[in-house]
Amino acid sequence: MKYVTLNDGNSLPILGFGTYKSTEQEGITSVKTALQNGYRLLDTASKYQNEEAVGKGIIESGISRKEIVITTKLWRTCLGYEDTKAELEKSLKKLQVDCIDLFLIHWPANAKNYNNWQQVNADTWRAMEDLQAEGKIKSIGVSNFFEQHLEALLQTAKVMPAINQIEFHPGYWQPKLMEYCNTKNIQIQAWSPFARGKVFKNETLNNIAKKHKKSVAQICLRWVLQHQVVAIPKSNTPERIKENLQVFDFKLTEEEMHLINALPLMGYSGEHPNHWPDRI
Ligand SMILES: NC(=O)c1ccc[n+]([C@@H]2O[C@H](COP(=O)([O-])OP(=O)(O)OC[C@H]3O[C@@H](n4cnc5c(N)ncnc54)[C@H](OP(=O)(O)O)[C@@H]3O)[C@@H](O)[C@H]2O)c1
Repeated sequence: MKYVTLNDGNSLPILGFGTYKSTEQEGITSVKTALQNGYRLLDTASKYQNEEAVGKGIIESGISRKEIVITTKLWRTCLGYEDTKAELEKSLKKLQVDCIDLFLIHWPANAKNYNNWQQVNADTWRAMEDLQAEGKIKSIGVSNFFEQHLEALLQTAKVMPAINQIEFHPGYWQPKLMEYCNTKNIQIQAWSPFARGKVFKNETLNNIAKKHKKSVAQICLRWVLQHQVVAIPKSNTPERIKENLQVFDFKLTEEEMHLINALPLMGYSGEHPNHWPDRI
């Protein structure tokens, strides 16, 4: 496994494991399989209702807790100083740990749902900073924040977010937001690196896959990694869990990177930080 260093000095595996939509038993089994095959970064969220399963999978894997980077997220209806602190305690309990390695604000407060979204995000962030200072979280970050949400947050933040986890896959990869985050040394993490399977039939990706004798899934992950972005693919299938790790033995050419960068809009989830709970 390769690691990146975050702006707070902590290291993060460049390839992790997603758990969205995994049921209790799937969650336990897939987390155990992932850890036993070499993944060391796990991604869950209170919203996924599988933090207990992830915690059990970690214990059943037999891998030392110290080696594992656990990410969980604060849901968007639980923002604010007090709620953030209370939610973190719930996540710690469900995951059966005394510290979260990476805690993210899942979606920013927005003008559609809050009279003063800037203040709500600022209060939430202050709680995250306090929890980090107390040692209950190692790294703090955000998810689905656009530049405008980050700029507003930075007006009052004492700690720079270490991560921004965003939708990032061939056909929708937010390059301007990535460039902005790079200038702030905020690491991008890619959610839905396969657009939940919607990219698999694309002809360009299939042609590149054939050339490298790799699967389209592996091409997507390699493309994410070559952008210096952390990928967190999800799978409940043991063969795919293993397949998705086999991306460190080949390299996409500059031309192939450009071809994938230039693919037209494909697989966009429709989830937007300024429109939630509606899709666009
Ligand atoms: N921050 C956010 O707002 C946010 C939003 C969405 C997701 N996430 C995180 O990002 C993670 C990944 O995103 P995602 O779960 O939405 O979608 P994804 O990883 O793009 O796609 C998952 C789908 O691809 C299939 N798959 C996995 N590997 C494959 C392979 N090698 N060949 C063929 N099919 C393969 C899986 O099937 P099987 O499981 O049946 O193998 C599953 O149906 C999530 O699990 C979650 O942790 C975060």
